[in-house]
Amino acid sequence: MVRSTGVRPCLNERSVTCRRLSLACPQTTPTSCIGAPALTARHDWHDRSEEQYSSDHLLHLDTRREVDPLDGIDPSFLLDWHAVEDIDDDTQRWSTWLSVEPLSRGPEPRPDWVVTSQGAIDTELGILKTGKEADAYLLERAVPGSDALGESVVMVAKRYRSTEHRTFHRAATYTEGRSVKRSRDQRALKAGSTWGKIVAAGEWAVSEWEALKRCWLLGLPVPYPVQLDGQEILMEWITVEGEDGVETAPRLAQTRPGPALLASYYDQLRDALATMVQAGIVHGDLSPYNTLAAGERLVVIDLPQVVDLVGNANGMDFLLRDCRNMCRWFRARGLEVDEQELFGELMAHAF
Ligand SMILES: Nc1ncnc2c1ncn2[C@@H]1O[C@H](COP(=O)(O)OP(=O)(O)O)[C@@H](O)[C@H]1O
Ligand SMILES: [Mg+2]
Repeated sequence: MVRSTGVRPCLNERSVTCRRLSLACPQTTPTSCIGAPALTARHDWHDRSEEQYSSDHLLHLDTRREVDPLDGIDPSFLLDWHAVEDIDDDTQRWSTWLSVEPLSRGPEPRPDWVVTSQGAIDTELGILKTGKEADAYLLERAVPGSDALGESVVMVAKRYRSTEHRTFHRAATYTEGRSVKRSRDQRALKAGSTWGKIVAAGEWAVSEWEALKRCWLLGLPVPYPVQLDGQEILMEWITVEGEDGVETAPRLAQTRPGPALLASYYDQLRDALATMVQAGIVHGDLSPYNTLAAGERLVVIDLPQVVDLVGNANGMDFLLRDCRNMCRWFRARGLEVDEQELFGELMAHAF
């Protein structure tokens, strides 16, 4: 595959795919020597029509003259076709950025690291974690040969399992109060049919996508949602500086912060929960495993089951459980906090 990147032609032997013929094949003057042997050569054939011509003669026609193929071409017509290796179908694909609908792309203003170039390639870098309902991968999106900001980035690709690979036991409690627009989908969900399971799987990806967008727009510390494509969400990769360079931020559960950082983490948690509650939403599965410690910053992840605080009959229970899960961890690390107190404080924000 070949992509245009500049102003000089690169005449190599690879097959060239030109997406715009006008660009690929500028109309040059008739003196151009690119392409088939000049017609003058044919006259030779007629003049010597008695002779037997073999393929050797044709080869001679081509190699007799040393020609600079660029001679006589106005430089403004020249294009640089930069050849890259064929993409590896197992680990690569052309960037899907332009193939998803605009509404399936992240909220604006977009961070400057988001790669939107049509020439970018997505490369699978490896699996981050396999889970019951989804797997998280690292994926690089980059314009070949570039590591400039906005042309190269590593993201997390979270891919939900479909149908029988998923567990659905929690689905009913979480989806209660959530609107499913198409009535066929609604019936299928109720019936628990195979179609229902497909719908439900899609619903989780859409649900996490919507939650990430909403939280991002509320200014909450969540990964920036880059795009949604079917069961796959691409999002910001939350990292820390490790000994060997950039690495995935640890889950809060794996860290042992000192007293000052611990107190700061708790303040960040309380602020984030208050903002969510004010917006009428509850994480629904908040724990030190779904919270990343990105240096001094806490980042909340894994939001497919975000519920309405009021619209869902279990909204309050989910909020109390979130408070309990988090407070337990903070207490175990030495910070005296109480979930009932936190819950009460949050409720004051809600109404
Ligand atoms: N945006 C992200 N940045 C860094 N790590 C992430 C990100 N999203 C997920 N992870 C890692 O992948 C794991 C699984 O992701 P999560 O969204 O919690 O899915 P699951 O439903 O499998 O729990 C997380 O615990 C975390 O280690
Ligand atoms: Mg998780």
